[in-house]
Amino acid sequence: VYHIYPDPGQVHLRADIAAFLATRGVGAEHVCCGCGSDEILDLVLRLFEPKGLVNLPPTFAMYPFLAKIAKVPVVTIDRTPAPHFALDFEAIEGAVGAGANLIFVASPNNPTGGMLTHEEVRRLTALNAMVVVDEAYAEFAPAGASAVSLVPTAGNLIVLRTFSKWAGLAGLRVGYSVSHPTVNAAFMGIKQPYNVNVAADAAARTALAHSGDIMTQQVGPMVRERDAMIAALTALGWLLPVPTVSNFVLLEVRARPHAGGPRVRPPPPSLCLPHPAAWPRRCCRRLSRLRSWRPCASAACWCATTPAAAWRGTSASALAAPATRWPSLPPCVTSRVSSVRRTVPR
Ligand SMILES: Cc1ncc(COP(=O)(O)O)c(C=O)c1O
Repeated sequence: VYHIYPDPGQVHLRADIAAFLATRGVGAEHVCCGCGSDEILDLVLRLFEPKGLVNLPPTFAMYPFLAKIAKVPVVTIDRTPAPHFALDFEAIEGAVGAGANLIFVASPNNPTGGMLTHEEVRRLTALNAMVVVDEAYAEFAPAGASAVSLVPTAGNLIVLRTFSKWAGLAGLRVGYSVSHPTVNAAFMGIKQPYNVNVAADAAARTALAHSGDIMTQQVGPMVRERDAMIAALTALGWLLPVPTVSNFVLLEVRARPHAGGPRVRPPPPSLCLPHPAAWPRRCCRRLSRLRSWRPCASAACWCATTPAAAWRGTSASALAAPATRWPSLPPCVTSRVSSVRRTVPR
């Protein structure tokens, strides 16, 4: 039925998501689907037009990027140093007291991997601000840790989830929010009518119908291999994995003098978790390469494990027309266009 427009009300998908969440007090009226959860972050900024966004780095780079496009001032409050990367609640309370009224917080956080407790989420929702808890990686965390169960009792809480990670549908772009029905109705009212396309809707509903199998056959092994990989990396002695409940591991690269004096090598290959079917073998190869690798004695840096995207090698110049053929831009165009840097923060 690809010749028919998608359902703007997302009726079946929202009902299936509500059933999947199986959280008391949360139904389809709390759920709005987006073209990835990235779209919903954008909807939040457009709906609330906040005076200020509290951003809590190191974290997902889309938050300040989207705020910049929406011309929302960003208040940056760094997390505490490694390995805890905890929130600085007093500074957050101060920022909200000074007028910031939107908080974006990833839980589990990208790239540090830790998750907020319910107590911490409640401390944020007690503030006079809209709180967006971005749970893109929640399915890799222990059951019951999600903040979705807090939505029925907190009108200023929005939880974001996605099919990109646990269901492996990143390329089809389906994410969703769980929020108070009135907030949800506003999202449904301002979103693009056909933001979730027919193929994405079908794939997401199929993933939900097979969620038990996906959790047992894909997510479960990834979590086990993650923990095994953390143990193996820790045993190397010069890499310090940060505790994670996600599907990635942030590593502190510790200096280690080489027996024959310091030896400088290029940074280690990315330690991404590949597709679960291929991962144990590929990961073992990567680990054995790491065992023969020695960092420079003075090196001390961080490296995060990020999945490599197949399109990254594509040359943008292959698509660009020669600049000389373009007319020059009038000032009313350049003022806005040049203030927004066109980068994809991943
Ligand atoms: C914390 C976080 N939120 C959201 C997203 C994007 O999710 P989606 O693919 O649903 O837009 C990512 C993707 O890397 C992420 O790390």
